[in-house]
Amino acid sequence: MLSNKDKLIVALDSKELDDSRRLTDELDSLVSFYKVGLRTFVTDGFNFASYLKNKGKRIFLDLKLFDIQSTIEETVAKLSNLDIDFLTVHGDPSIVEAAVMGKKNTNMKILAVTFLTNQNRSDLDLSLIKKGDIRKLVLERAANAISAGADGLIASPLEVKLLRSLKCTAGKLIVTPGIRPKNTSFGDQKRVATPSEAFDAGADYIVVGRPIWQSKYPKITVERILNDL
Ligand code: C5P
Repeated sequence: MLSNKDKLIVALDSKELDDSRRLTDELDSLVSFYKVGLRTFVTDGFNFASYLKNKGKRIFLDLKLFDIQSTIEETVAKLSNLDIDFLTVHGDPSIVEAAVMGKKNTNMKILAVTFLTNQNRSDLDLSLIKKGDIRKLVLERAANAISAGADGLIASPLEVKLLRSLKCTAGKLIVTPGIRPKNTSFGDQKRVATPSEAFDAGADYIVVGRPIWQSKYPKITVERILNDL
């Protein structure tokens, strides 16, 4: 059984890799899981992933992959060598299937993004996505991604309850960004929840970025988050 401490994923989104390294040193005793996004990965991702692994940390590589099946499969196979714990791909069934093929027998979990949470109905119209309430479409895409073999989903904390009402999400991971501890700035986030609200709704892991890496006192911020759980 995981402790609360192991269910907090800190997003390392500083522009400078050295800042992220310093942050992981400062949080070493408190945080066991880090999210590495595109911006950090393109800087020196392979070495940085090894650095985190050598510190005994788990890694969520948030690349939100989207491409033709052979490219996805080969890319995921290469990433499997890094001992990544979670990897994101877009939730289209062909992409999820290719990612699952690519990961072979590694323990890497393939997490599907349904829609980016900054997309609203008019963005979906522009992308020629079929008509319908976005929340219904999220459920449909989630179910399709799980049928295609996804190990879990990325979701806004406000969608978790609905997703958990689907039978097919039983035993699947739900990981939620869009987390704001009480009394912290929302930044550009609109649909947010506190860490304990996300867990109460059925999330397995929460991802917290700016409230921690932009904090003057990141260690105290993490301690507060963990104490609130
Ligand atoms: O807002 P915050 O800095 O806590 O975001 C944490 C991470 O979650 C960021 O790396 C961001 O890319 C990701 N994120 C996301 N979907 C959202 C909000 C944030 O993938 N709706």
